[in-house]
Amino acid sequence: MMDDTSTELSMNPGRAAESAVSGQCRPDDGLAEKSPRVMVVTYGCQMNVFDSRRMIQVLGHAGYVETDDPAAADVIIFNTCSVRDRPEKKVLGSLSRLLPLKEIKPVLFGVAGCVAQQHGQALLDRVPYLDFVIGPDNIADLPDVVTRAASGRRTSSATWMDPRSYDFIPLDADVEAGPVAFLTIIKGCDNFCSYCMVPYVRGREVSKPAGLVLDEVGSLVKAGISEVTLLGQNVNSWGRGLEGNPTFPDLLEAVSAVPGLKRLRFVTSHPADASDRLLDLFGRLPNLAEYLHLPMQSGSDDVLARMGRRYTFAEYFNRIERVRAACPDVALSTDIIVGFPGETAADFESTMDAVRRCQFDLMFSFKYSPRPGTAAASWKDDVPEAEKAARLAALQAMQDGITKSRMQRFLGRVEEVLVEGPSRDSRKDGALQIMGRTRTNYIVNFTVPGGRVPSPGELVDVRIERILAHCLKGVVPG
Ligand code: 5AD
Ligand code: SF4
Repeated sequence: MMDDTSTELSMNPGRAAESAVSGQCRPDDGLAEKSPRVMVVTYGCQMNVFDSRRMIQVLGHAGYVETDDPAAADVIIFNTCSVRDRPEKKVLGSLSRLLPLKEIKPVLFGVAGCVAQQHGQALLDRVPYLDFVIGPDNIADLPDVVTRAASGRRTSSATWMDPRSYDFIPLDADVEAGPVAFLTIIKGCDNFCSYCMVPYVRGREVSKPAGLVLDEVGSLVKAGISEVTLLGQNVNSWGRGLEGNPTFPDLLEAVSAVPGLKRLRFVTSHPADASDRLLDLFGRLPNLAEYLHLPMQSGSDDVLARMGRRYTFAEYFNRIERVRAACPDVALSTDIIVGFPGETAADFESTMDAVRRCQFDLMFSFKYSPRPGTAAASWKDDVPEAEKAARLAALQAMQDGITKSRMQRFLGRVEEVLVEGPSRDSRKDGALQIMGRTRTNYIVNFTVPGGRVPSPGELVDVRIERILAHCLKGVVPG
């Protein structure tokens, strides 16, 4: 599910999974009858989904089991994101609706993520029914924070870690459910794009050492994971500050060689840091899936300069040409902001032209909203709301047509599909429908007439027979 200013079709490069409930951990089975239960509600991108899983993991080690039923939960945590939204109100509204639970049993309410980092103790002071606040860098403290809150000591733990003593919580392979996993390799961002809160709420860039990444990918594969997505606000700057200054392409090559890893993806890339060497890996590393999310933000050089993006449209387009030369079938997606301060009708037309030229498979588009503390927040938000909405609608309508035409290339082709499980409308047409994704990250619903039903994590060849608005339909050839 996305927020109301965005589009989402069949691919998800790692953003806006708002209201996805809970990461996976120990299942809430009858065995754990007496164990306390935790529910985590996640807002925002895959980074936040990943953080939610880590929360469930550390609480799992403290004896908690996961639930998605608020009535069964002993601890309810809202993991927030404020990159494009003002989530404080929404989160506090949702929590206050759960208040009657507190009259039935001693359930603890916590707020995590960006809002927690931004407001810390002030949030506890303001909201009497909140029991704890925990920042993204303090997830390891969660069991202590919860124990303290349970004994009546309301606690805020939202400090910046000293990068030199930065602790990544090692990934617990058992915590991942299903055949695909996400793995943070770099936290924070040093880019300070003028509209963006991330550097303020997630801090400076810190890379996870290669050895740790490789160990984690190895244990994920051993635990049965087929596909790993490497995560970071800007994965391209991975390695800065690590011994020997390794680069992201070095890491990709090493991860790609982990025995048994069927597919590898990464998200997000900054175009100014997407080197030739990185782009040339597409089509060369056999398990690197042909999908690249490369946020453009605007097609106007003036706007790009004021956004502090460090590239012109020509330079951006050159990156796209490079990756398409290396791998003609690569699927490309992007992020666009409309209505940035000072964006003229001509600037917006440049964005329309740019999007037309780039022929993205998918676009995520947003109306600009000033975020507190950013450089652009001190500039006049001068594009009227109605004009922002009109520009967004025009852009999305055009992209819908482009997406539709990009999808046509799959018709009749046999695609390698990684099976995720039964599809949602599983037996609608009488035959069992399986859901999976192409290497290009399109969702495929398919049938296996008369054959063995493939298991999650398997790669199967599927012939694409129909193109729907949001997914492909196919069949395993007999
Ligand atoms: N207003 C609108 N969109 C924003 N994004 C980040 N900050 C803002 C903002 N202030 C969008 C960018 C980014 C994506 C994650 O969110 O397009 O790439
Ligand atoms: Fe925000 Fe820019 Fe960093 Fe992306 S690169 S997280 S848009 S500051």
